[in-house]
Amino acid sequence: MKQVNMQVNLAGVSLKNPVVVASGTFGFGREFSQFYDISQLGGISVKGLTLHPREGNPPPRIAETPMGILNSVGLQNPGVDGFIEHELPWLKEQDLAIIANISGNTPEEYGVMCEKLSRAGVDMIEVNVSCPNVKAGGMQYGVVPEMAAEVTAQAKAHASVPVMVKLSPNVTSIADMAKAVEAAGADAISLINTIRGMRIDVNTRRPVLHMNTGGLSGPAVLPVAVRMVWECAQAVNIPILGLGGISTGEDAAQMMLAGAAAVAVGTACFADPYAPLKVRDGLADIARRQGLSSVTELTGGVLPW
Ligand SMILES: Cc1cc2nc3c(=O)[nH]c(=O)nc-3n(C[C@H](O)[C@H](O)[C@H](O)COP(=O)(O)O)c2cc1C
Repeated sequence: MKQVNMQVNLAGVSLKNPVVVASGTFGFGREFSQFYDISQLGGISVKGLTLHPREGNPPPRIAETPMGILNSVGLQNPGVDGFIEHELPWLKEQDLAIIANISGNTPEEYGVMCEKLSRAGVDMIEVNVSCPNVKAGGMQYGVVPEMAAEVTAQAKAHASVPVMVKLSPNVTSIADMAKAVEAAGADAISLINTIRGMRIDVNTRRPVLHMNTGGLSGPAVLPVAVRMVWECAQAVNIPILGLGGISTGEDAAQMMLAGAAAVAVGTACFADPYAPLKVRDGLADIARRQGLSSVTELTGGVLPW
């Protein structure tokens, strides 16, 4: 049977296959490298980095839900300098695209981190304007188009590698957010981040999460993510990294047909560390069965009724 070319290009960054692992669900890759060689992946989006180290939110900060999880981890990370010193050298020895995911308290902080990370040699920067679990920064920039644009412009002014902006689904019009960051110079967009949710323990009458609310991810959010990627693909011309609820090759194919150039696997990695490889193989199978020579032929291929 014919081999399918799995290589894709995401805003100038070459990925050996379209499967990236999502920020916050794969750490910095070391734990997963005990299971397999992570160079088999297209790329890794590392745990969200902040200018200074953060301990994150108090527990409980993860709760199960039907077909997903709620989390309020709150950007626990070693800070951008800690990442550059202790994690990046090892990651650079692996053969996959390194995407640095960042969150700032101010637009200026995003700029400082972009400068440091570009100099340190990451392949791409993913600007998180969409974390629902921190009080300052993060999502406040992700729900107002002008603020998302301001952060994007700062990042672009200080980065010498492509900048991808990660959008929040917690908005009325995701297409308007996509258009705003494209106009501000974003090289790509990624979506979706988690959807705000809440669970309550009926016996204690307390919210299950210490922070009361958290972000919903996992299979439950896939249809929302596919819909949002499809809407953004019609609104902008920059490439899209599609994520949210992907755990099979078919899920990934849906995301690409909706318009994604590449996909990311997140929560599925918790249940099965091999999920990203299974998604890659499943995607290749679908492309082969459909007689495609390149997986890129799936992107935007959804047909109208
Ligand atoms: C425990 C956890 C931590 C996360 N941390 C981050 C983060 O630091 N930065 C970020 O941009 N997204 C973060 N996310 C969001 C994921 O990258 C992804 O956008 C979301 O979970 C939807 O994809 P999924 O359903 O495949 O997990 C986190 C998600 C989870 C579940």
